[in-house]
Amino acid sequence: MEAKMDDPIYKMVPTHILNIKPYVPGKPIEEVKRELGVKKVIKLASNENALGPSPRAIQAIKNYVSKIHLYPDGAAYYLREDIASYLGVDSDNIIVGNGSDEIVSIITRIFIQKGDQAIMGDPSFLMYRIDTQLSRGEIVTVPLKDFGLDVSRILNSLTDKTRLIFISNPNNPTGTILKSKEMQELIQNLPPGTIVISDEAYHEYVDDSEYPDTLTWVKEGKNIIVLRTFSKIYGLAGLRVGYAIAKKQIISILNKVRPPFNVNSLAQVAARAALKDRDHVIKSKNLIKREKEFLYSCLKELKVPFVPTQANFILIETGENTKEIILALLKKGIIVRGMEAYNLPNHIRLTVGTREENETFIRELQNILQR
Ligand SMILES: Cc1ncc(COP(=O)(O)O)c(C=O)c1O
Repeated sequence: MEAKMDDPIYKMVPTHILNIKPYVPGKPIEEVKRELGVKKVIKLASNENALGPSPRAIQAIKNYVSKIHLYPDGAAYYLREDIASYLGVDSDNIIVGNGSDEIVSIITRIFIQKGDQAIMGDPSFLMYRIDTQLSRGEIVTVPLKDFGLDVSRILNSLTDKTRLIFISNPNNPTGTILKSKEMQELIQNLPPGTIVISDEAYHEYVDDSEYPDTLTWVKEGKNIIVLRTFSKIYGLAGLRVGYAIAKKQIISILNKVRPPFNVNSLAQVAARAALKDRDHVIKSKNLIKREKEFLYSCLKELKVPFVPTQANFILIETGENTKEIILALLKKGIIVRGMEAYNLPNHIRLTVGTREENETFIRELQNILQR
């Protein structure tokens, strides 16, 4: 049934919520099969791991599955212990969330009240905007410079109402990074009532020696929250596990708002196994390194502009006919992400896939462009 905006129910909803444009995720494979009658579908739209989950994570789920009648460990004790020892911090420096999405939402609920400001790049990950809006905060967008976050403009945007600065590093959807020096400049000039969120969902893919080691600032007790996830290189997007690393005081505040059993038990055991499967992480990283070079060279040959990336996705300029290109690709069973919601209507974001997937994408793109 279609929603009618004249239904009295809408009068019960505050304007700031009615104004939210819901997050539109990449189309699920089954939906494309159903709607377009395509048999084989490849999804290159949500930056998932082309190699799938770690086999050790699958085994861990199988081993645990007979115990799912029990509530999970609400505090995710063992998972936090494992992450802490892997990163060389204390487990009190860590909170685990139902995806890092949940942690962004917890952070904004606590630190953004009506009229408080959150600074974010334009474009950057859309959930920062949605969660800020939900808290009645003011979204302060800072245009990117050469597709990257611009620290001097961010610093110039600071006011006494700035509570959060969202740094997606690498930045989704551009794949660019903020370098160590720039991040240091930001941290050094941070007013006391402001927190930097360093969202490092694609951290493990970065291959640039100037990428910042943000945990140093956590250890120094700075106002920084580092976000990481098991959804990307660890291949567990469907299970929803992410985590934050911050000083103990911040973590204890976040825990006040965290729902009691926010990360399910299968997700916890799978994440522990995936963290230990360094082989799978290295294989995944190497695949992306190799395949992004392959895609770069194909795109150059097709004379299609793109932004060089430090993540497992590439922002590609497909021009004025982007909508038609996305639809034509869909009809061929290839799901990519349109960038209209990110104010980049002439671009698509492509997740780097396996060689076979990338070849299929390039072949179909070439066919469409030659029409
Ligand atoms: C920059 C960024 N942050 C956070 C997330 C959310 O990840 P999770 O699956 O851990 O909620 C994503 C997912 O696309 C992302 O791109």
